[in-house]
Amino acid sequence: MSEHADQILPHGRVLRYPFWERLNHWIAAFSYIYLLLTGLAFWSPWLFSIAVLLGGGQISRTLHPWVGLFFFYAVARMYGYWAPQMKNTEVDKQWWRSISHYVQNEDDKMPPAGRYNAGQKVLFWSFFYAAIVLLLTGIVLWFPEWISWNLRWLRYLSVFLHPVAALFTIANFLIHIYMSVFAERGAFGSVIRGDVTLHFAKRYHPGWYEEIVRRANAPRKMTPNYDARIRRAEVLSTTYPFAAEILAFYRRICVIQQKLSKEIHSVLDRQSRLPAAIGTLREQMDLELVLPFAKQALSDVVPGSPEPLALYIKEFLRGSAERWQCHCNDT
Ligand code: HEM
Repeated sequence: MSEHADQILPHGRVLRYPFWERLNHWIAAFSYIYLLLTGLAFWSPWLFSIAVLLGGGQISRTLHPWVGLFFFYAVARMYGYWAPQMKNTEVDKQWWRSISHYVQNEDDKMPPAGRYNAGQKVLFWSFFYAAIVLLLTGIVLWFPEWISWNLRWLRYLSVFLHPVAALFTIANFLIHIYMSVFAERGAFGSVIRGDVTLHFAKRYHPGWYEEIVRRANAPRKMTPNYDARIRRAEVLSTTYPFAAEILAFYRRICVIQQKLSKEIHSVLDRQSRLPAAIGTLREQMDLELVLPFAKQALSDVVPGSPEPLALYIKEFLRGSAERWQCHCNDT
């Protein structure tokens, strides 16, 4: 998933799975279920009635390998999306050592899992390697006439390994459904809508949560470079002395903005809060956070500002916090 601050959504939610990851996941899920059902039908005569329900034996036998290709394609894309985040880390080793706490729901005693915990990573790699075995053995079973007599052991091996790998994925699948749908409350919504609450992130994936907070609070590319603005105002006022007064005022505004920005960021850092990343300015505005600083900043603007503006600010500063609130909501 992209590492951008637009991962943070309004109302305290974060994006866990963007659209293409979700779509791909569901292609894998639905094709897997079809393969599972038809595969079980071919495996045992007791289960053949499943194939009858799915359109008959011939149709199931024809579609099974094609849907298998589809499934493998989705798993390969999953690899592209998620493999870099599925590497085994030091935290994962500690996670396995603390597994007894995990099974007792003692989340606070677990090392901080990242976007995926160690169990999810094992599940991912199990699905991935099993899908490769299923693909290779499946191709041999699809075109047995292509295998020369000398290589007939490949057919025997495939007849054995294909169902073994399939049974292995069934165990994986059942664990996956239990863990992601029933054990981690809120995870199912993440593969439907894409987002989770910050509470979910903090509870189940604290390492990922920390990463999101850090990235959100890190200076963005678009963060204004106040030092550069201040320097430019100084240079321009020597180059264009006739505009020195307005440039001096502009320089002063930049200094005040710079101070304000530092103060607000230090509060956000202290509180580990996320600045709103998207939405209109009005939606992003956290009045409680800004008001105490805004009053001081406006008072700092008064000295040296043009007379009408200074008068307006003085009048404005006389208002109560409630009046400020109303004013901000009205404008
Ligand atoms: C009806 C079938 C399925 C359901 C209901 C389902 C549900 C979910 C949910 C809720 C998540 C999000 C978990 C989280 O982020 O904490 C997830 C993630 C994932 N799913 Fe599925 N899934 C299904 C089938 C599959 C299949 C067939 C595969 C195998 C290719 C698969 C592979 C994954 C992987 C690798 C992840 C990310 C890591 C993880 O959460 O384990 N899923 N799935």
